[in-house]
Amino acid sequence: ASSFVLAIVLGYALGCIPFAVVSSKVFGLPDPRSYGSGNPGATNVLRSGNKKAALMTLIGDALKGVAAVLLVRAIGMGEVAALLAGVAAFVGHVFPATLGFRGGKGVATAAGVMLAAVPWAGVIALGLWLAVAFITRYSSLAALVAACSAPISGLLLTGSATVCGALAAMSGLLIWRHADNIRRLMNGTESRIGGKKAQSA
Ligand code: G3P
Repeated sequence: ASSFVLAIVLGYALGCIPFAVVSSKVFGLPDPRSYGSGNPGATNVLRSGNKKAALMTLIGDALKGVAAVLLVRAIGMGEVAALLAGVAAFVGHVFPATLGFRGGKGVATAAGVMLAAVPWAGVIALGLWLAVAFITRYSSLAALVAACSAPISGLLLTGSATVCGALAAMSGLLIWRHADNIRRLMNGTESRIGGKKAQSA
């Protein structure tokens, strides 16, 4: 049990690194919580018009999910602990102590966790994200579709209820965090990738 606690603490701490805020500082941009959707995530940083900062956010937020899983696996704490660390990193991203527990929506971090913990389920989710984003230009809709696929493909690929449960927990929280996006998608006001530049939040 103590190894599970260590895995959770490690994962949560990694998840608390807010790459949207950090990369915006690095590139001299305003805080992403002050414009667009107000979300500290790669999609919103892209609304600043700075693609490099958005890419740094995407890669950083994904890598902290990857790192949580790989680190705990490397320490030899086992696959369940590694999965727990990944979920904890996701929770850390969504509820980061570093941002007063008001973080992002978890898309990039969940992708990183999946690619490290259940690679083929991660590849399927990533493929769905890319397809939906390419066709509709809605980052949020792409994330919602990918999130729905995660527990299903996780279960089919591994046959493990633990994996399915962990992915379902992440997807559930991710979908809940997209409540505003779902509302905007339904009334046709959601912004598209490459659409108008951001207005103040
Ligand atoms: O990465 C989160 C994305 O799915 C939606 O972000 O800024 O459009 O609310 P945003």
